[in-house]
Amino acid sequence: MKLELQKLSKSFNGHPVLQDISLRLEKVHTLVLIGPSGGGKSTLLRIIAGLEYPDAGTVAIDDSPVIYEESNLILHRRTIGTVFQAFNLFPHLTALQNITLPLEKVHGYTPANAKAQALEFLERFKLADHSHKKPAELSGGQRQRIAIARAVAVKPRLLLFDEPTSALDPEMTAEVLEMIEQLREEGRDFILVTHQMGFARQIGDQIGFLAEGRLIEIGPVAQIFEHPLQGTTKQFLAKVLKY
Ligand SMILES: Nc1ncnc2c1ncn2[C@@H]1O[C@H](COP(=O)(O)OP(=O)(O)O)[C@@H](O)[C@H]1O
Ligand SMILES: [Mg+2]
Repeated sequence: MKLELQKLSKSFNGHPVLQDISLRLEKVHTLVLIGPSGGGKSTLLRIIAGLEYPDAGTVAIDDSPVIYEESNLILHRRTIGTVFQAFNLFPHLTALQNITLPLEKVHGYTPANAKAQALEFLERFKLADHSHKKPAELSGGQRQRIAIARAVAVKPRLLLFDEPTSALDPEMTAEVLEMIEQLREEGRDFILVTHQMGFARQIGDQIGFLAEGRLIEIGPVAQIFEHPLQGTTKQFLAKVLKY
């Protein structure tokens, strides 16, 4: 995808959370955002997803600008798949129903088509055995993989992952990361916020470092990890890579 952000700003209650975020990536499959907590990563993802309005600035995906008016955002949100840290699934529905619900209610599939599509994705990600289980009957890793399957099943043009493994133990983290890697290999475009630096390095085309509401630096993975230009990036990496 081509991604262009121009001077995006956002404040909550007078506190700037994003300040003049600009970037222009001509062709990126995997943009990974890293940075300290509270730096504005989730807010940036939510603005790109059309779940939050910027105070100023613009977002354009593949040269089409996101118009921040509710009637347009309803359409925009349908083109984006989002997966958050946890609590993604409806607890009273089975895995299968969690996937078919948005297909039917938001994307206009008939129940039969929604079921066929959901089963296809459950099979593809080796989750078919879990289709009749409710979230409480699944491990944390299985739940996140169902949430990812649901996000992908709507055939979005862009996937947004906000710390999808931060609530998981290492084994479950690995199975979710493997699934994200599979999506990358399939050529999906996504933006991923993560604290797993090893994974960021492995999967990212471009890494953006966000701190205190500013995009401190952005560049190819090797550049950010081997030769960061900014002192704050160096300090952050030294800290998170130490253990
Ligand atoms: N809906 C909101 N209302 C008020 N403050 C918010 C809201 N969402 C985020 N914030 C604040 O914005 C800042 C950035 O948050 P966030 O985007 O979640 O950062 P990150 O994801 O990098 O940890 C934090 O100080 C947070 O408390
Ligand atoms: Mg966050």
